[in-house]
Amino acid sequence: MFDVALFLSNLKTKNIARKIKYIQSLSSTNTVIYEMLMNNEINIKDVLIAEQQTDGRGRRGDKWFSSKNKSLTFSFILSSEELSINKLSLLVGISIITGIQKVANIRFKLKWPNDIMYKNKKLGGVLIEKKRAHYIIGIGLNVNDFIFDPSIKSRACSIHSITKNKISRELIMAEIFNSYEEMANKDLSQVIKIWESFCNHMNTIVKFHHSNKIVSAEFSGLNKQGNAIMNINDNKKIFNSGIIEL
Ligand code: BTN
Repeated sequence: MFDVALFLSNLKTKNIARKIKYIQSLSSTNTVIYEMLMNNEINIKDVLIAEQQTDGRGRRGDKWFSSKNKSLTFSFILSSEELSINKLSLLVGISIITGIQKVANIRFKLKWPNDIMYKNKKLGGVLIEKKRAHYIIGIGLNVNDFIFDPSIKSRACSIHSITKNKISRELIMAEIFNSYEEMANKDLSQVIKIWESFCNHMNTIVKFHHSNKIVSAEFSGLNKQGNAIMNINDNKKIFNSGIIEL
């Protein structure tokens, strides 16, 4: 059971996540929050959290697995006029790292653009979808999980599996939003600097999946617009999408 009152008592934001809707089971918080917005049942900056998703979605059409009472699966909506997709994507990643650090006292790392990592294992991810003038931001985090779907078992971890401590999901989520609002006023160049300091593959050779090809590339950081700079066969190339494999 997610304790909404505990979440709200730890939330220090002025605007974001002040209203939260908690549903036991639904298909996907990203799908449902947009339907709710269209039906005027939820507003921009409100949060929808589910205990269980029956059709959790990851990036690139992947399934997203989560565990009842253990994971966090939530979404919120922002106006696309408020900020660029690049800034949003990086800002959400650094807010998650900062929020978790405040509660669990451990610095997880980022894999471009916003996978939450511990060494080569994934702790969480972000799915941002753009519909009309809205961004739907969905966050999935393994918090107290210890059983993982066989298809992801070798590549997944949770905060609990790393720290061996049971962590409050309410505090983690509140601190993610507190961090988001604290950092939202920073300009893109500052966000990029923080993002690079949290990245776990700066200046290393990675496998890069793009346009149905996999190439070996050196990740050289982000350009001024927040796109990835990849050094492929001594040619610098800029990408705004793709998957990095470590
Ligand atoms: C990824 O592939 O790394 C992104 C995973 C995003 C999962 C979250 S869980 C809450 C929201 N609802 C979904 O169906 N997906 C996102």
